[in-house]
Amino acid sequence: MKGMIIKNMSFKVGQTLTIIGVAKPDATDFAVNIGPDEQDITLHVNPRFNAHGDENVVVCNSYEGGNWCEEVREGGFPFQQGQEFKITIEFTPAEFVVTLSDGSTIHFANRLGAEKYSVISFDGESRIQTVEIK
Ligand code: GAL
Repeated sequence: MKGMIIKNMSFKVGQTLTIIGVAKPDATDFAVNIGPDEQDITLHVNPRFNAHGDENVVVCNSYEGGNWCEEVREGGFPFQQGQEFKITIEFTPAEFVVTLSDGSTIHFANRLGAEKYSVISFDGESRIQTVEIK
């Protein structure tokens, strides 16, 4: 399910993006996507409660030229259906560091290589409450 899209953001190297939301009570999964435009995704963060054959895992990937690339599965799974979650994404010169509310981290290379991204979108079953860039 396609959700909210923010098209004119500026998320740059050195900044941290914080997302707070609530997973729907019957959520199968939801995703946060960061990209240069509405087609490509440099970082897809996809907590899966029960989706695509996975249970309770966070799947990260990029989407380039119409294809999903290599998945990264790291970090814990501090998400619960119907509950609030917080995800922070630090944009370092080398990579994105995703920190979950249990303190676990996911390291994901900046595959598209830009120093600034302007689109954030949200898919799936969550209600986003806060999007902050600092
Ligand atoms: C696919 C799924 C996409 C995305 C991708 C990540 O199976 O349909 O929504 O999560 O995996 O690799």
